[in-house]
Amino acid sequence: MNLLLIGSGGREHALAWKLSQSPRCDTLFIAPGNPGTAQCGTNVSLDPLDFPAVHRFVLEHQVDMVVVGPEQPLVEGMADYLGERGVPVIGPRKAGALLEGSKSFSKAFMEKYGIPSARYASFSEGQLAEALAYVAEHPLPVVVKASGLAAGKGVLICETHSEAAEAVSEMLSGKAFGDAGRTVVIEQFLKGIEISVFVLTDGKDYVILPSAKDYKRIGEGDTGLNTGGMGAVSPVPFADAAFMQRVEKTVVQPTVHGLMSEGIHYQGFIFIGLMVEGDIPWVLEYNVRMGDPETEVVIPRLKNDLVELFEATVNGQLGEVAVETDPRTCVTVMLVSGGYPGSYAKGKEMQLPDPAGSMLFHAGTRKDAERLLSDGGRVLAISSFGENIGEAVSQSLELAEKVQFEGKYYRKDIGQDLIRLQQM
Ligand code: AMP
Ligand code: GLY
Repeated sequence: MNLLLIGSGGREHALAWKLSQSPRCDTLFIAPGNPGTAQCGTNVSLDPLDFPAVHRFVLEHQVDMVVVGPEQPLVEGMADYLGERGVPVIGPRKAGALLEGSKSFSKAFMEKYGIPSARYASFSEGQLAEALAYVAEHPLPVVVKASGLAAGKGVLICETHSEAAEAVSEMLSGKAFGDAGRTVVIEQFLKGIEISVFVLTDGKDYVILPSAKDYKRIGEGDTGLNTGGMGAVSPVPFADAAFMQRVEKTVVQPTVHGLMSEGIHYQGFIFIGLMVEGDIPWVLEYNVRMGDPETEVVIPRLKNDLVELFEATVNGQLGEVAVETDPRTCVTVMLVSGGYPGSYAKGKEMQLPDPAGSMLFHAGTRKDAERLLSDGGRVLAISSFGENIGEAVSQSLELAEKVQFEGKYYRKDIGQDLIRLQQM
């Protein structure tokens, strides 16, 4: 079959790499893709948010299925537009994409279906006085979130009441995040270890993919500003079978059941961000896509044919599928441009080493004739397998050192917290 994958980051390179290995895949198109995805299929310069143009491409090239990588096209209704025209899509329609696109929706959903999550209240424009009164009484720290999509920047953990009050005022007035902030969620601060759980559902049945841990801060020891993710590890040693059963029972089942009860026909990924306190999983957030860089460790560990998994998803047959996983550990280390997540330079010429058994997933690169140039904050994800975290991360770090571009930066402590936990 012919596939069209939407997106252009490291997540999409990892998905393209896996899809292209399937004997079920005839032609793989990636829109717009990057120099990494170009090694797995054909990049096409389509604007993913121009749904009519995407549909025309689907008809002209006999595309049998569209796989949507990022959230924005889904929140804006790509799966509705294509679905209504008979095109099978991996990714939910607008109603399901609200799980990520509206935190006030997802909090109310979790409350309704008894899914463990932080205590909260939600306020909209015109409710500033009520929101400030709620904040003033809230124990510290207090978490203030823009309800809408804010490119991963819409969450503030406020240590003082005045900081929280200011955040709420700036968001509700539209100053901080535009329309995304005109509704806010104010919630209890949860303490613990974060883990990402990935579910693929056909709307009634589901499979759970390998779990992963992401490293969000720019600095070693989890310090400094939040980024899109500086590295990831899969599996997460503390997420053993008993823990995953608890997640399935208290989170995954009520989520899939809740979507069905709401009449939301959801076909695609659900990425559940959990905070684990003791061994109790609390949901921090839902995303309606795979994580980046988690995909760069989860997908290499997946033994199933991904095209077959996607066919089962759109045909409502996931109940008949079992996920098979590589038992080895996979670690990815993200190479970023100096200055990221603040301002940084692009267009730096890059030299890549021989991957030596590792996988070099392009995140932000472009080609200029034969030259490879950096083209983003996050530039390259280096994923390696090992018998344990230490082995896998050493291999990625060895290659990270050999990649050349001006201003290159990466964290050398990916996975070290998990290694310490295992030794306790
Ligand atoms: P979200 O986009 O809601 O996942 O929030 C982004 C990040 O903020 C999460 O990955 C957590 O690190 C942090 N965070 C969000 N909500 C909370 C909370 N209630 N308590 C503690 N940390 C949180
Ligand atoms: N790595 C976190 C995310 O994709 O949102």
